[in-house]
Amino acid sequence: MPNTELHETARALVAEGKGILAADESGGTIKKRFDTIGVESTEENRRAYRNLLFTTPGVEEYISGVILYDETIRQKADDGTPFPELLASKGVIPGIKVDQGAKPLAHAEGETVTEGLDGLRQRLEEYRGLGARFAKWRATYSISDTLPSEYCIWTNAHALARYAALCQEAGIVPIVEPEVLQDGTHSIERSGFVTSRVLAAVYTELFDQRVDVEGTLLKPNMTLSGYDASDRAGVDEVAEATLHTLSKHVPAAVPGIVFLSGGQSDEDATAHLNAMNAVGPHPWQLSFSYGRALQAPALKAWEGKPECVEAGQRAYYHRAKMNAAARTGAYGPEMEREAAVV
Ligand code: 13P
Repeated sequence: MPNTELHETARALVAEGKGILAADESGGTIKKRFDTIGVESTEENRRAYRNLLFTTPGVEEYISGVILYDETIRQKADDGTPFPELLASKGVIPGIKVDQGAKPLAHAEGETVTEGLDGLRQRLEEYRGLGARFAKWRATYSISDTLPSEYCIWTNAHALARYAALCQEAGIVPIVEPEVLQDGTHSIERSGFVTSRVLAAVYTELFDQRVDVEGTLLKPNMTLSGYDASDRAGVDEVAEATLHTLSKHVPAAVPGIVFLSGGQSDEDATAHLNAMNAVGPHPWQLSFSYGRALQAPALKAWEGKPECVEAGQRAYYHRAKMNAAARTGAYGPEMEREAAVV
């Protein structure tokens, strides 16, 4: 029987004019981010930074859900309210990263498989009790002339589908995130080919493992030229190539596609999403689930200083507003110059 709660949650996460904030950096990743601003990665600093983001006045107009990390879902805002409760009180849906990271894949030099299936049923039950209504699992694939291998593609697809099925059993919407990394010198055509191959395997496994795709969201990479390619595709070409790739593999029953930013500049990530939404209609909502592209300016403005919290919030609010505009194709670079008013 279809689970209408899952369908409703998935649709709410891609409500018009809204997208998702990925604030689920693991301990290692948040340390890397803090290193760039010279802030020590202590539990209290991590809490204070997430508090800044989650208490930004008015940002719920543009943000439908927030992905939390295991530590964060257990932390509290300055006023003592648990973060999931604080978010829910603003109409923002709490989510949780449940994978335990990409680990070296045996017998496959340079490739990874994402771990975290052991005990996942119990962890999902606990997270639901803590307020989570959706989850995330990220698989990664590197592009070279010969990679990714079919072995890596199918092993990760199988794990993504096992995760998704367990989430649905627990009443949690799975965000399925197969990220084809865009580091390297590859062409946009090769990026499209590899992403196609990966998505075909992912949707085969989801179907075979009885996942109801109407109660899922897809979080893919955009189809880009490699970051080190000499002649990189422009905004319209990226939009066209990405739509072409997705249209071949993502069932129309999937309610939404929420892109990751994956190391694009903030403004590129916004411009690419905007260009795709400017040429609709599409069978799915096209939205964002950005980490770096929503947070980078906020992190820089904050610098770990209590007196800079408001500046950090203004920077985050501004990026959320720009990406919300890109949900309808209404974004233009001139909007970047507008004062970011909280
Ligand atoms: P980026 O937008 O920084 O790629 O992060 C999104 C994410 O959640 C990666 O798993």
